[in-house]
Amino acid sequence: MTKQWWKESVVYQIYPRSFNDSNHDGIGDIRGIIEKLDYIKKLGIDVIWLSPVYDSPNDDNGYDIRHYRQIMSEFGTMEDFDELLDETHARGMKLVMDLVVNHTSDEHPWFVESRASTHNDKRDYYIWKKGENGSEPNNWASNFGGSAWQFDEGTGEYYLHLFSKKQPDLNWENPKLREEVYDMMRWWLNKGVDGFRMDVINFISKDQRFLDSDAKPGHVYASGSSYFRNGPRIHEFLQEMHKEVLSGYDVMTVGEMPGVDVEQAKLYTGEDRNELHMVFHFEHMGLGNGPGGKWDNQPWKLTELKQIMTKWQKGLESVGWNSLYWNNHDQPRAVTRFGDDADYREQSAKMLATCLHMMKGTPYIYQGEEIGMTNVSFPSITDYKDIETWNWYQEQKEKFGRDHSSFMASIYDRSRDNARTPMQWSDSANAGFTDAKPWIGVNPNYKNINVKQSLENPDSVFYYYQKLIQLRKREQTIVYGDYELLLEDDEEVFAYTRTLKGETLLIVCNFTGKYITREFPSFSNKPKTLLITNNDERTDMDALDRVRLLPYEALVYKFS
Ligand code: NOJ
Repeated sequence: MTKQWWKESVVYQIYPRSFNDSNHDGIGDIRGIIEKLDYIKKLGIDVIWLSPVYDSPNDDNGYDIRHYRQIMSEFGTMEDFDELLDETHARGMKLVMDLVVNHTSDEHPWFVESRASTHNDKRDYYIWKKGENGSEPNNWASNFGGSAWQFDEGTGEYYLHLFSKKQPDLNWENPKLREEVYDMMRWWLNKGVDGFRMDVINFISKDQRFLDSDAKPGHVYASGSSYFRNGPRIHEFLQEMHKEVLSGYDVMTVGEMPGVDVEQAKLYTGEDRNELHMVFHFEHMGLGNGPGGKWDNQPWKLTELKQIMTKWQKGLESVGWNSLYWNNHDQPRAVTRFGDDADYREQSAKMLATCLHMMKGTPYIYQGEEIGMTNVSFPSITDYKDIETWNWYQEQKEKFGRDHSSFMASIYDRSRDNARTPMQWSDSANAGFTDAKPWIGVNPNYKNINVKQSLENPDSVFYYYQKLIQLRKREQTIVYGDYELLLEDDEEVFAYTRTLKGETLLIVCNFTGKYITREFPSFSNKPKTLLITNNDERTDMDALDRVRLLPYEALVYKFS
């Protein structure tokens, strides 16, 4: 296993719209990010991943790109971006861009030309099909509800959109389109950006038969995912991208891959395969999904979480590399979902951080996670801005006639807007995010949960994350050690070891709000050092044959 800078890095994700508003319009922007670079540096971050800042009509908050080489005017200018890149580099950090090339906006000039006639240069940049007997070419569903096909009056054909109607899918079968994408990537890399997080990149190769999928009883549309997830030419495309673009630069890549499994991830991240460095899988994010999917939130079990994390830890151990995350801009806040955001918010946020950051892989921190930001429960659906949330709400209301209150609970648990409320900088108006009306409401708990307070309190979640990051820099075992799960069937404690060259770390995390006792007799007589804990009382000397854990306690001992 080779040593690499991106294996030793910690990444911080910024969702620019919600990060920091510098120009008083209620929307976060690039100059707002520049103002906060010292804060990010203070945390100890190596790499910033910026969610899309490209020109976009914002049907899906920038994941619908109109111009790949322009900056969204709400976020600033290309000069602002260049300054952000310089200022990031000046602080010894790197900047990774979001690459959204499964689809564009329907306002992208390629699509405008593509839809203008059935015969033009750009027609084959997208996926156009004639209908079947007056209806859609097949029964695939869009990820945002309804059919994945949209009829175009002008040319009498349908185009494919796996996300919203305003996000037509690009046709990767077309070599000219692929070359355009590679050229655009080189353009950004030549500017000096340090890599890409690639949006739904395992969707780009579609099975060209475009067959119907099996629909659930009572459903018209079905996920066609078996025909486009990890599709027939995906590895060929990624290897071509590597050869044409990535091989020329020392950059970091991570592919967002819904539905990827460990065996496929070995192919995507294998060191000898020249594809990507890491993937984002979603198996742990699916915990608690009921038969109705993510909106059908059910209780989850710690043994399931351990089984998933362990499968990925062991699966990629000597073959590829893991990305480690609890949060991003599409997921509810982890402290609400996996911890306890009421009685033990700080304690459980620290425990979750420990559990993840001691694993093997590159950790990702999503803005606000480092201060323990929580989910939000807005009173009205009109407070929600996310297209996925809205489409689902409307579908439920229209199709199933459900009443408001019955599905707000699902939205509180799972809406993407939980992650998108403004960053809580201080206890002043709008959490210090803006002095105008914010584009989405601020979580009312900002008076108690904010950066200002976190920086003033040496015991805060922020300083705990800072310490975890410092430890990773110091202890090679955290980066490169082998992982071994302990207490496999335990529904309350997540415990594991990391081992490298005769040194072992023991990580113990209490996932409950109870005092519990566990025994680690095989470690009891060995001399040890306490690396980190969220329990003030714990010492190097504590006996491990019987350990009494506080609610949501986490501890890490090192045995040399
Ligand atoms: C995944 C992104 O993370 C999400 O925010 C977006 O809506 C879809 N891909 C479509 O681009």
